[in-house]
Amino acid sequence: MNNTLEDLKAGLERFGEENDHATTERSKRMLNITRDTGEFLSLLVRATAARSILEIGTSNGYSTLWLAQAAKATGGVVTTVEYAEYKFKLALENFSASGLSGAIQPVLDDAGRFLQSLHDASQDFIFLDSERIEYIGWWPDLKRVLRPGGLIVVDNALSHEEEMAPFVALVRSDGDFETSLVPVGKGEFLAVKASSVERV
Ligand SMILES: C[S@@+](CC[C@H](N)C(=O)[O-])C[C@H]1O[C@@H](n2cnc3c(N)ncnc32)[C@H](O)[C@@H]1O
Repeated sequence: MNNTLEDLKAGLERFGEENDHATTERSKRMLNITRDTGEFLSLLVRATAARSILEIGTSNGYSTLWLAQAAKATGGVVTTVEYAEYKFKLALENFSASGLSGAIQPVLDDAGRFLQSLHDASQDFIFLDSERIEYIGWWPDLKRVLRPGGLIVVDNALSHEEEMAPFVALVRSDGDFETSLVPVGKGEFLAVKASSVERV
């Protein structure tokens, strides 16, 4: 066990809780995933042996550390996208303190624009934790960049069930995807894309 990394994650949990309690300004809140969600993401990356991992919504990088820890085990890399410079800078500091920088490719950009730049079927695993209102507009690109058999995990499926309902319905109605809602943390909506074998 890497104590520095464990200490860093525990420190970020405390910081996130105190910070988000003290500020009402959304752009300054960290809005991190819960620890059990981190464990779940790490397990999913390992179980699917995902190597090309895309995270949309870095914040200060707490969830990225869980993904990157697993990516190190699979020989993969986490590309993580954030458009707020303030949070991006915090994330860079955390990545360099974590010793996991080699498994992380941080991107300062608008996620919608960045998604358009990715190749078809280039991603094994996508973690979506951003502005929920954008998800429906991003869906054609999310679907395009995910490889057959790839997995998408979306946070806040229970904490913001109503807001997520149109997106969840859209994915559920897509014949190329199998879905499941998992009551971990704030609720994780999972969608796996049909593999090429299933499609023949
Ligand atoms: C819920 S927070 C992410 C928390 C992070 N996944 C964690 O658990 O540590 C959502 C983040 O998405 C970012 N964001 C929102 N819309 C975005 C967009 N269009 N492009 C890139 N980042 C975006 C916000 O600035 C915010 O930092």
